[in-house]
Amino acid sequence: MNAGSTQYDVLVIGSGAAGLTAALSLATRLKVLVLAKGKLTSGSTAWAQGGIAAVLDAGDTFDDHIRDTMVAGAGLNDRETVEFVIERAPAAIDRLCELGVPFNRESDHLHLTREGGHSHRRIVHVDDATGWAVQAALLKAAEENANITLLPHHSCVDLITGRHEEKYSGSGRVWGAYALDETTGKVEAYKARATVLAAGGAGRVYQFSTAPRGATGDGIAMAWRAGARVSNMEMMQFHPTCLYNLEVKNFLITEAVRGEGGRLFHPETGHRFMADYDPERMELAPRDVVARAIDDQIKRYGLDYVHLDISHEPPEFVKEHFPTIHEKLLGLGIDMTKGPIPVVPAQHYTCGGVVIDLDGRTDLPGLYAAGEVTESGLHGANRLASNSLLECFVFGDAAAKDILARWDSFDAPPRIREWDESRVTDSDEEVVIKQNWTEIRRMMWNYVGIVRTTKRLERAKHRIDLLASEIDDYYGHFRVTTDLIELRNLHQCADLIVQSALRRHESRGLHYILDYPETDEVPNDTVLVP
Ligand code: FAD
Ligand code: SIN
Repeated sequence: MNAGSTQYDVLVIGSGAAGLTAALSLATRLKVLVLAKGKLTSGSTAWAQGGIAAVLDAGDTFDDHIRDTMVAGAGLNDRETVEFVIERAPAAIDRLCELGVPFNRESDHLHLTREGGHSHRRIVHVDDATGWAVQAALLKAAEENANITLLPHHSCVDLITGRHEEKYSGSGRVWGAYALDETTGKVEAYKARATVLAAGGAGRVYQFSTAPRGATGDGIAMAWRAGARVSNMEMMQFHPTCLYNLEVKNFLITEAVRGEGGRLFHPETGHRFMADYDPERMELAPRDVVARAIDDQIKRYGLDYVHLDISHEPPEFVKEHFPTIHEKLLGLGIDMTKGPIPVVPAQHYTCGGVVIDLDGRTDLPGLYAAGEVTESGLHGANRLASNSLLECFVFGDAAAKDILARWDSFDAPPRIREWDESRVTDSDEEVVIKQNWTEIRRMMWNYVGIVRTTKRLERAKHRIDLLASEIDDYYGHFRVTTDLIELRNLHQCADLIVQSALRRHESRGLHYILDYPETDEVPNDTVLVP
């Protein structure tokens, strides 16, 4: 082993639902290192509210769940992937129960709530804070497993590929990643025979997002730079109901509030406006439909927000179903048992990402991926609510199984070049990072949001191209910090989103563009090749 490098059997990048599921399955036989940017609980998993979709009710069927997923996804989904994931959902829930996730129960079975786009009650949940319970159970199991090493506060900079080998093999093989120790500022090579990328989504590319601070698309950008294809990056999901509050900017009001009877109203006229957009499904129409309706109301009437109201239900029912949200809102002076909640749409989920197959394999030998960082074919043009944690469990496990099955064919990593800092200095102008970061996020919100036009997309592309040389120049001259790593990745993802949006000449699911309002007869993925 080189000085300044560490080697495990498998490197997992990310400690959310996808990464820890993969790690736990791999650790049955292999030594696994899990790296996470910031705290181990810093990903989206810990923030998930609504729950996990699975067919568990006698009146529900796999066919219904598959159909709902494909309807929400506007036909862009890959049917084989949809079947693969949905049929594995009950087993995934069993595994979580074994790990001790305290799902809400009703007598002898799990309580199922309902969310938009689902034709049945099929969401298992832990009150309105499912993600926290799932994250805690996975983390506890990982901490207790002697084959798993957890290393928080390590921000991966780039994947190690053939070009980092001391004797370049000419292959696109991935051998782990270079990561910045956020406490010492040193970059080290973490080598492995196989690498699982589970670094989450790119929500923070947008000014308003429900995603946590670290959702800067690092995994997507690293895989792209290493040579993997990414697809459907234009399919950015906006959640219809994020709390509108001048202090608390990204607090989600779960879709389950609408699932349990919450209604949307114009805040001044009291009109229940979903009747004008989707009279049949009303507030339970798929997310893209509801988010666009709210966006339209806000723009048409010059509103700051619309109202979400569940106060017609008994106070005890509301408090029992939504204890976390109720408590949080009370702290902000809003009592949801007595009156409406002001809400606005905000970016919520990255449907596109690194292309994988059913074994979680990317284009690059030795590199697997799972969870929100991927485009597996499950979500198509719009993710059905509560299908994403499910995807993490199914593909985290699938990737691990494939690695275990092929283990004997994975070579040991060669000698890798150490991180070279001889030509960089400490940054003298941190303000450049802040300025570019803010500019990208605001521009993406204004030009590449819920409703798009070609002209606005072209303006965005022009700005992104101008920023490219400034960011590259900064990266080339200064020592890396987490902020700089994130800015570089945020910029890369913004570019991929805009490139993809410019290529799709139709409106489908989450991609709604005024110049091309029709939907093509044959659905096609937008695949970008590095
Ligand atoms: P994350 O859980 O986001 O984990 C990413 C990991 O990668 C983190 O550990 C992070 O530190 C690490 N990482 C990132 N970059 C780097 C780097 N450069 N170096 C090292 N590590 C890195 N889905 C549902 O199915 N049901 C729900 O109810 C639901 N509610 C949601 C509510 C909110 C507010 C949000 C934001 C999302 C919700 N989602 C829900 C979506 C779901 O939570 C996510 O899609 C899912 O948790 C993603 O899991 P993941 O393991 O792929 O990534
Ligand atoms: C929510 O609780 O509304 C989020 C569910 C999801 O994103 O799947």
